[in-house]
Amino acid sequence: MNDSTATSKFIEPIETGIRGVFTPPGDKSISHRALIVSALAKGFSHFTNFLEAEDCMCTVKALQALGVPIKVGVNEVEVRGVGLDGFQQPSEEIYVGNSGTTMRLLSGLLAAQPLEVTLSGDESLNSRPMRRIVEPLTEMGASFEGPDGASHGPLTIKGGPLKGIEFKNELSSAQVKSALMLAALSAKGDTTIVEPIESRDHTEKLFELFRADFELGRKSVTVHPTSKLIGLDFSIPSDISSAAFFIVAALLSEDSYLTVRRVGLNPTRTGFLEVLKNMGAKIDVRLVESNYEPMGDIKCFSSSLKGTTITGRMIPRLIDELPILMVAAAMASGETVIKGAEELRNKETDRIKSMCDNLKAMGVEVTEKEDGCIIHGRAFIRGGKVKSYGDHRTAMSMAIAGFLSQDGVEIEDIDCVATSYPGFFEDLEAMS
Ligand code: S3P
Repeated sequence: MNDSTATSKFIEPIETGIRGVFTPPGDKSISHRALIVSALAKGFSHFTNFLEAEDCMCTVKALQALGVPIKVGVNEVEVRGVGLDGFQQPSEEIYVGNSGTTMRLLSGLLAAQPLEVTLSGDESLNSRPMRRIVEPLTEMGASFEGPDGASHGPLTIKGGPLKGIEFKNELSSAQVKSALMLAALSAKGDTTIVEPIESRDHTEKLFELFRADFELGRKSVTVHPTSKLIGLDFSIPSDISSAAFFIVAALLSEDSYLTVRRVGLNPTRTGFLEVLKNMGAKIDVRLVESNYEPMGDIKCFSSSLKGTTITGRMIPRLIDELPILMVAAAMASGETVIKGAEELRNKETDRIKSMCDNLKAMGVEVTEKEDGCIIHGRAFIRGGKVKSYGDHRTAMSMAIAGFLSQDGVEIEDIDCVATSYPGFFEDLEAMS
């Protein structure tokens, strides 16, 4: 690998197999929630394996601006929680960069505070849909201002006394569910959120750890008002979504054998492992411990993959892994059909378009559909010039495609990987 300009990178094809043991960085979704739930608790919380990436640091800075003392040390964080009602009015608007999780979850927290706070993001985040949180939080009693009737950021949240609601979401979205769960802690009466398919349940797991008062139903969660949460010590598992890039690289390069250690194995996040196994991947998963989140080791070996079908019901359990699964599909033999994945168009970029355009630019035959795509796998990626479109997961998927390609791949605009995985290129280099 060698840099050609400051922000573009050429990834050379791998020459030997990948062998070794690898521990990915801390889980991004859990890192955000660990900060937020610790801030809402009274007293000190301390956690290890925090993901010190740009997105999570946006949550750190936002909470600090709201008066929460947070110290980020080497691989550990200390939060002096202010309790459910101890947040302070910030002196200016809070910038949350590219982080959708920060904007949506903090909107839920702020909905219950007697403050007026503006959260703004970068161009990509300010163009992402916000009505999905604004409508139910407004029904609970908060008010919002923002472009197009608060359809997008910057969002100004005027919090106030909230009442519990029953919200039947048409989407499965952990960000929407979590925003409402955070607001619901301080609402009058119960709040129930129902989803068509269960989304990732990390907020529920942390609520359980912190002993918030809530109940789980089939595809629903009901949060009862909670008077107090108390600070705790805990550890964050490594991020299975970051591991996914290296798992696919190891499966599809010859003579490879990779062990991924102490990675989160929450079943709401492991859908891509099941899809890869259906495609013929040799993967062994071993649960090592199950504290508030299951965690374990994944072993993977070089495999020949065949095409598969990924449909709507499976999508929430692998939504963030679809870009790298599209690379795996190109390196498989036969057709892979992805359906019911229209939510992918609402991510940091339109990931259906970014991935289809990039795969085409590398010589892969792809048909783009409104809700997914069809990839005609030939177990071959030629290589070429591609773009990240400012999206970390598109960039990292392209890097793995380059690794597995015949001629290598030049990726334009790679700085965005720092939002979720600042050490990605060093880790990739170490494996080649
Ligand atoms: C996330 C939920 C998912 C996921 C995102 C992180 C979270 O988004 O794609 O990367 O931490 O709650 P949606 O809630 O929009 O599905």
